Amino acid sequence: MLPPWNEPAIRILMMPRDTNAHGTIFGGVILSHIDQAGAIEARRQGCGLIVTVSMDKVVFHEPVFVGDLVSFWTETLRIGRTSITTKVRVEAIRGNDPSARFLVTEAQVVYVNVGEDRKPKAITPLPNGFG
Ligand SMILES: CC(C)(COP(=O)(O)OP(=O)(O)OC[C@H]1O[C@@H](n2cnc3c(N)ncnc32)[C@H](O)[C@@H]1OP(=O)(O)O)[C@@H](O)C(=O)NCCC(=O)NCCS
Repeated sequence: MLPPWNEPAIRILMMPRDTNAHGTIFGGVILSHIDQAGAIEARRQGCGLIVTVSMDKVVFHEPVFVGDLVSFWTETLRIGRTSITTKVRVEAIRGNDPSARFLVTEAQVVYVNVGEDRKPKAITPLPNGFG
């Protein structure tokens, strides 16, 4: 299993189109990016075609605002025969002060590596990953 990356899998600037009725960022938008970030982590570890089988332990610690620079940090917790468990930590930087960092959300996401027939397929871990 490769150690955590020293850079986020995804970095994104939040836009007004991503807001909910309160004017803060809609949680579903954050979840969608979490799903993608975890999938990038799974690919890095050697998975090919994957499907999300569970999203667990999702905690929204702080709201996210329009203009926040949001980073999705990933790490692999476990590689099974066909499944991989990833942890995604979401951090927001507010305004122009890079020291104003907040852990806004975290989640655990499990993916299953599948073949063309969409059936579970053994994972072959990549020794050096990519990126
Ligand atoms: C994911 C899927 C292929 C698993 O099929 P399955 O026949 O249940 O597979 P298996 O029982 O052989 O389990 C395969 C692996 O998934 C893991 N798994 C299955 N269900 C799980 C669950 N609810 N949570 C965590 N892991 C799970 C198993 O532990 C196993 O891992 P391992 O090989 O590392 O030990 C199937 O359930 C599926 O296609 N689900 C829909 C996925 C999808 O469309 N996602 C997008 C949602 S929009």
